[in-house]
Amino acid sequence: MAEPLLRIEAAEVFYGASQILFGIDLEVEKGQTMALLGRNGAGKSTTFKAIAGIAPPKRGQVILAGKAVTGQPPYRIAKAGIGYVPEDRQVFPEHTVDDNLIVGAKKGPCGEDYWNTKRIYDVFPLLAGMKTRMAGRLSGGEQQMLTLARTLMGNPDIVLLDEPSEGLAPIIVQAIGELIRTLRNMGVTIILAEQNMHFCLGIATHAAIVDKGQIVYRATIDDLRHNEAIKQRYLAV
Ligand SMILES: Nc1ncnc2c1ncn2[C@@H]1O[C@H](COP(=O)(O)OP(=O)(O)OP(=O)(O)O)[C@@H](O)[C@H]1O
Ligand SMILES: [Mg+2]
Repeated sequence: MAEPLLRIEAAEVFYGASQILFGIDLEVEKGQTMALLGRNGAGKSTTFKAIAGIAPPKRGQVILAGKAVTGQPPYRIAKAGIGYVPEDRQVFPEHTVDDNLIVGAKKGPCGEDYWNTKRIYDVFPLLAGMKTRMAGRLSGGEQQMLTLARTLMGNPDIVLLDEPSEGLAPIIVQAIGELIRTLRNMGVTIILAEQNMHFCLGIATHAAIVDKGQIVYRATIDDLRHNEAIKQRYLAV
């Protein structure tokens, strides 16, 4: 069987003495958009931090394209091809949109150079209209788009996108949803951590649910859509 692009195997993460992840198992194939769902505090962000090397697993493995990256520092994991967009969407506020993108520019792990500012502005027309604006002046939703765009500028193999819809007005949430759908259709591999299942239904191809630091469900998004028992039990919808 072909190796998945990303495989997390029995990952256990601790913050000090308290264990947060109790053996996360997850596989993502190239081209999938995987919704990582779960309630507040379930362990979605911690799973991303484990993958990105910010909260390295004490036990278990993170394997990218067949190679273990477990325990490597975050910059190396980024260089290996994992693009991470954290919850707090940090931009460089005193720099322009254009400069924020250029800061993120690098070739992918195998020399990929698909993403550049021109391509970004084609796919993110909203940003194209504000190239010279200071990033600190953008709305929350625009900053969310900018951090996603900056991450793509690094030509990653996979993008970890943490709660892109959180705290944003419905109209901008919809715009971000459409953007992610466009990226999916372009073949970008994405894990989308969300509390908001409805946001993911029209976007993701697959779904995994994390609960109390473990993956309790894995299926296609269509399976989840029709699985009332699972939704009731883990997502409170
Ligand atoms: N730095 C930390 N130190 C100690 N405990 C933490 C830390 N960060 C998170 N936790 C705890 O780890 C658990 C999982 O948190 P995590 O942020 O991964 O959840 P989440 O699924 O992303 O939730 P949300 O939907 O609210 O973002 C929570 O109980 C949280 O309180
Ligand atoms: Mg979180």
